[in-house]
Amino acid sequence: MKFFLLEPRGFCFGVKNALEIVEDVLKNNPHKKIYVYNEIVHNKVIVEDLRLRGVTFTQEEIEVPDGAVVIFSAHGISPITRSLFMNRNIVIVDATCPLVAKVHEEVIDYTKKGYHVIYIGNPSHDEVRGVVAEAPENITVVQTEEDLARAAGYDKYVVLNQTTLNLFETEDLRRKIVSRFANVQFPKIEDICYATSSRQQAVKEAAVKCDAFIVIGSANSSNSKKLMEIASSCGSKSILVDDASELTKEWLQGAENLCITAGASAPEYLVQKMAKRLREEFGFEQVDG
Ligand code: F3S
Repeated sequence: MKFFLLEPRGFCFGVKNALEIVEDVLKNNPHKKIYVYNEIVHNKVIVEDLRLRGVTFTQEEIEVPDGAVVIFSAHGISPITRSLFMNRNIVIVDATCPLVAKVHEEVIDYTKKGYHVIYIGNPSHDEVRGVVAEAPENITVVQTEEDLARAAGYDKYVVLNQTTLNLFETEDLRRKIVSRFANVQFPKIEDICYATSSRQQAVKEAAVKCDAFIVIGSANSSNSKKLMEIASSCGSKSILVDDASELTKEWLQGAENLCITAGASAPEYLVQKMAKRLREEFGFEQVDG
């Protein structure tokens, strides 16, 4: 029984950047109350650690008292919420990933130019809620081919999307949009970020040489869930876990060649703990990928 660690895996640029911002704020504001609007990144272990270190996570502007510091999460924020904070005596620190901010700007720009925005994404995700709020009257959020009927009736379209989607499914839906509507544009630079696409490609390529995948990440992490879905769609048994303690002997039964990867918001030490448990408790041998 063998396992290997997949490359690339784990933290992306946007997550590293957001966590460094939080560390700086904690270091430079020892006497202030520190709030983060939404989860700084979608990882249960990281959020819990910061909570224990005094950071308060909130989804209500009203809960943040005057004089506090508020950090906007890597997933971005709606312009309405941003302006509510800006009108108060609160120090604002913006940890929005620049690649998410790029999609906000695209919505504003294409709306000004008269395009209707077809936005592929999960409407309940923080990132999507923030982006949609830039021009709610001019965006149709879609996830499936059936949703496209709601976008009918406009002269010209631009297709944007959430940054962490399944690369392969999104490509398929884009093709359906192009065949259904006339005058369809795409942004010059792809909205699915490089960290997402490179990790997904790696899973797809690794699927030929392993029979099971362990993805380290949280259930509300879009990019982590997509890694697990892609592994499953390639015919591999796959599981998404927050940390090594969730792995069971029962799940491992029948797995001979395991691959471990991690979502863009999962820290490397959780990967190493998983590797240690597989070696020491379950008798797996670690090999090169
Ligand atoms: Fe940004 Fe992509 Fe990471 S959008 S937060 S670099 S997963």
